[in-house]
Order: sequence, then structure tokens, then C-alpha cells
Amino acid sequence: MTAPWPYPRWIAHRGAGRLAPENTLAAFRLGAQHGFRMFECDAKLSSDGVPFLMHDPTLERTTNGKGTGGVLPWSELAQLDAGGWHSRLYAGEPLPTLENLARYCLANGFLLNIEIKPTPGTEEQTGRVVAEQAARMWQGQAVPPLLSSFQPQALAGAQAAAPHLPRALLLDTLWDGWADVARQLGCVALVCNYALWDAALVDKARGLGMRTLSYTVNDEWAAERLIALGTDGIITDRVDLFSPAG
Ligand code: G3P
Ligand code: MG
Repeated sequence: MTAPWPYPRWIAHRGAGRLAPENTLAAFRLGAQHGFRMFECDAKLSSDGVPFLMHDPTLERTTNGKGTGGVLPWSELAQLDAGGWHSRLYAGEPLPTLENLARYCLANGFLLNIEIKPTPGTEEQTGRVVAEQAARMWQGQAVPPLLSSFQPQALAGAQAAAPHLPRALLLDTLWDGWADVARQLGCVALVCNYALWDAALVDKARGLGMRTLSYTVNDEWAAERLIALGTDGIITDRVDLFSPAG
């Protein structure tokens, strides 16, 4: 028996997919302008323990910095340009903290899926600190953020720090033992590479009492298939293609 699910079907990936610099507040604002009410973001820690938003372990692709993001203190990360790589329109856009995004979501009634994306070697600590901050920021809110990760250790840290926050295991492949790990971590959902879902896997997830979500779905045929399978959530870059009301 699955618990009630408070999240909408449509979730905008990294804010607005590729239409704005991923994981910046500008991207979340653009996703919201397209009608999205729930967002996925990637969160990791600065060297002094501040959760901030960035996908890659290194700074080069999405900022004007160099090297591993997680080895710098927040005071240095805060100086970087996280928008100029995308387009002139967004030059000077800063890296947000998770707290910045939480304030934006809470002020506007938007929901959040925080993907815990640890710098390698910091899995447990990142899960713990992100969950502690999420618990603090969303205290008393009707709908908490959904915490997800590919890294079981990160989810274990989150479970220890804030057991009441919902967790989801991300799966790119169905590795041996995934179901036992998801159960031990008290996961309420699986977020799979969309190509993994078929009727048997949906049945298996439901049998485990878990919801069924997919990333990153950018084609109509793929979304139609997932909806026909009865899955619960679709994370997309294509905020310009899909209507979140549908
Ligand atoms: O959280 C879903 C999706 O974002 C996972 O993959 O690499 O885009 O963070 P990635
Ligand atoms: Mg992600």
C-alpha cells in the first residue's frame, strides 16, 4: 500500500532544463513562468559545509571557476559567474545556496526535489547536512522536499539526520540488491532512468510501496509511455514542450 503522494506529475529538471543556466535562480524562475510548480535541483557542499546548487563535481562546465567545487569555501564560490557559460543574457548569474532556492520555493508555494549530489568522498556528510537544512527550512510546511540520490550513503546520511523527510533512490541501472537498499533506506519512491520502466518494474515498485518517477524525459513518446504505465512523476528539461497541467 503506497502512502498518499503530495507531488505533481511534472517536475522541471535543474530549473528549466537547458533554456536557462541550470541550477540558478534564473532557471527556476523561468521554469515557473512555464507553469511548473515543482523543480529538481542538484545540491552539494562547499568546503565549509554550505549546501549549494551544482550538478558537476568540477566548476568548468557551468561556471567561470576551475577545479573541484567542493574544495572551495562558500565565500569563493559565491563570487563565480554561473550564467555566462550559457548565454550573454545570464552573464553574472550567481551560484545559489540551497537556502536561496528554499526561500524562493517557500515564498511561492513551489515544491522541490533535492537531488543530493555529493562531491566524491563526502556522501554521508552531504546527505546529513542537506537533510538537516531542509528539515529546518521546511519545518511546519505541509509538503516537505523529496530528497533523492544515486548514492545510498548520501540517503543514509539524510535518513539519520532527518528521518521524517521523504527519500527516493535514483537508479540509472537495476544493480544487484537495489530493492533491498531502497527498502533499508526507507525510500518512498524510485526515480529511474525512464528507459528502465516497464509493467513488471512498476508492479515491483508498487509491491515495495514505492512511487515511480523518471528522469530525464524530453520526448512526447517517452512521456506518453510512462503515463500509460501509470507512473507517478516525470522530470523533464523540456519546460517549453510539456504542459505541467497535463
Ligand atoms: O534527479 C534526476 C536527475 O537529475 C538525475 O541525473 O545527472 O541529471 O542529475 P542528473
Ligand atoms: Mg539531478
